[in-house]
Amino acid sequence: MAKVFVFDHPLIQHKLTYIRDKNTGTKEFRELVDEVATLMAFEITRDMPLEDIEVETPVQKTKSKVLAGKKMGLVPILRAGIGMVDGILKLIPAAKVGHIGLYRDPETLKPVEYYAKLPSDVEERDFIVVDPMLATGGSAVEAINSLKKRGAKHIKFMCLIAAPEGVDVLKEAHPDVDIYIAALDEKLNDHGYIVPGLGDAGDRLFGTK
Ligand code: PRP
Ligand code: URA
Repeated sequence: MAKVFVFDHPLIQHKLTYIRDKNTGTKEFRELVDEVATLMAFEITRDMPLEDIEVETPVQKTKSKVLAGKKMGLVPILRAGIGMVDGILKLIPAAKVGHIGLYRDPETLKPVEYYAKLPSDVEERDFIVVDPMLATGGSAVEAINSLKKRGAKHIKFMCLIAAPEGVDVLKEAHPDVDIYIAALDEKLNDHGYIVPGLGDAGDRLFGTK
């Protein structure tokens, strides 16, 4: 069964408050999303495998640990997932980046895929799918379907804010995908928006309305 991790780190919670604030403008919103993505990447990479190598300090030779060279892939769900990419790449700069484009049909709230471009060696990579919002869960489920259809086997999902409804839907559809969340909110409203949430993540990141 999928594990769900809600990050309670004070720096993440502090920055998230200003991300939620409707008076936070586009520039600051982008910067904060970038910073929170970096902090979340620090936590999400906690289980990365290590190996020993020999290193010579000014004092003597010793064994010390380095990352065991796992191949990583980062997949933002367009558009809003793009806002989290650079922040994560600061910590895992060698990750390849794929893109999956989905929008929610405003009537049905169902995701519609309009773009997918992934690294060629999908089977060999460990993926982190990122999107600031997990609302009904439709977009995350569909993006992960798309990734699995192309051969991905190891996938984590990371978002800033989730609704309980979306978490349940994602867990049910992809029990092998662990979910990493900065805040688990109260509910969805009648328009499928997360309450209290942060509004429309894509519009706030890119300054559109
Ligand atoms: C937003 C958000 C997620 C999706 C979440 O994207 O970035 O991708 O909604 O909702 P769900 O869990 O109910 O599927 P949106 O569809 O507004 O597209 P955009 O990023 O292009 O603005
Ligand atoms: N997508 C958003 O951007 N915000 C929400 O609250 C729900 C879906």
